[in-house]
Amino acid sequence: MSTLVLVGSQWGDEGKGKITDFLAEKADVVVRYQGGTNAGHTLNVAGAVFKLHLVPSGILYPGKSCIIGNGVVLDLPSLLREMEALQERGVDLSKLRISDRAHLVMPYHRLLDELEEKSRGSAKIGTTLRGIGPTYMDKITRRGLRVADLLDEKELETKISALVAEKNLLLEGVYRAPGLDAAAVVAEYSRYADIIRPFIADTGLLLDEAVRAGKKILFEGAQGTMLDIDHGTYPYVTSSSPTAGGASTGTGIGPTRIDRVMGVVKAYTTRVGDGPFPSEISGETADRIREVGREYGTTTGRPRRIGWLDTVVLRYACRVNGMSHLALTLLDVLTGLKTVKICTSYDYNGTLLAHMPASLHVLSGCRPVFEEMTGWEEDLSVIEDFADFPPAAKNYVERIAALTGMKIAIVSVGPGRRQTKLLENIF
Ligand code: GDP
Ligand code: IMO
Ligand code: MG
Repeated sequence: MSTLVLVGSQWGDEGKGKITDFLAEKADVVVRYQGGTNAGHTLNVAGAVFKLHLVPSGILYPGKSCIIGNGVVLDLPSLLREMEALQERGVDLSKLRISDRAHLVMPYHRLLDELEEKSRGSAKIGTTLRGIGPTYMDKITRRGLRVADLLDEKELETKISALVAEKNLLLEGVYRAPGLDAAAVVAEYSRYADIIRPFIADTGLLLDEAVRAGKKILFEGAQGTMLDIDHGTYPYVTSSSPTAGGASTGTGIGPTRIDRVMGVVKAYTTRVGDGPFPSEISGETADRIREVGREYGTTTGRPRRIGWLDTVVLRYACRVNGMSHLALTLLDVLTGLKTVKICTSYDYNGTLLAHMPASLHVLSGCRPVFEEMTGWEEDLSVIEDFADFPPAAKNYVERIAALTGMKIAIVSVGPGRRQTKLLENIF
């Protein structure tokens, strides 16, 4: 048995899709365990670019089982569009399976996400407006619709009608927005049910069988540790558990079945959406990193905020996820900078903090303490072996390992599959 969870170590967009695709070659099963279409995972294979939101990033290898776990929230029209686009490009979806326990993002969730964000005014979270928060809210307050509900037409109609009536009270009464037509929603979702039926399965059972058969299973996180509902910069977080524990609850595999956790970490930091970001920078260097790294949201197209690598964040991520190894990505983007900085601790009113504070008020008052290192000029994306990297780039990688106590298993120096250096094989 070999099971590996790949987790975002920062605020998302660390390159999880690329690393999942890279490791998927050796996997039998690739599983998404949380999040929804707020995720945008970009794969670049032989010059062709694929942007995935719900389908696991193992899908480009024929013959791999790809599972959307129960912890994911499923936006059916988006999923069907994504599946259609993949099929048009010749991607085989016959081994895609969707958990019968996953919750459905409904049209009223998308509307409420937008209305709630508007009502927050300047305190908005900066969500992706994909209905994620309202869907998880209904899951937790036990008003959710699940994939299994699609299988019984009568039941589906009864449930949707009751839920739409309840949401219309909120939409019309509180937000003064037009309500939804229950019959139209029932008709729409009955149509989706017919298309999606062959893909629905008890995926917890399938995974258990795979574990027992000694298959290699890769769990693909979405978002990142600092966006985790429990461990992130609450309330500027997403509504699910991207951290490694989520891989267990979000798929139905017990924690004892998980062998290892690898953190995916960008060589600098980015964040989309609002909320504190201690190592954030602006000006020429930030603009340069944004342009070279093409740091614009995969899902919303928003320019990403830029900062130096923050090892307070990274050490925290290593701890809450139980990581042993890191996959360092986008190192090539830092080429050409005279110096590169690493945040090693926070200064809060003259006191040095080595650990992530819970209070956002404290975090917002933290000034980053930086260590400065010499940069490099060489284009890393074309160097075959890590051993041939310029000493300054190697020093940077080694310093990250030393500051976190982690082993670096992978160094990525470009979006392509081949621009990936495997330093230690743990899967
Ligand atoms: P994810 O959400 O964690 O999967 O990350 P995204 O796909 O949203 O953002 C990462 C972006 O960086 C994508 O456009 C990738 O193609 C690209 N990328 C991944 N790894 C590297 C790398 O090592 N170097 C460069 N230059 N781009 C990379
Ligand atoms: P991937 O998987 C980066 C951010 C949003 C917002 C907050 C809450 O591509 O790394 P939500 O719509 O989830 O309620 O928004 O979380 N966010 C992401 N940021 N990458 C993502 O996914 C994200 N998914 C959500 O910008 O700040
Ligand atoms: Mg992304």
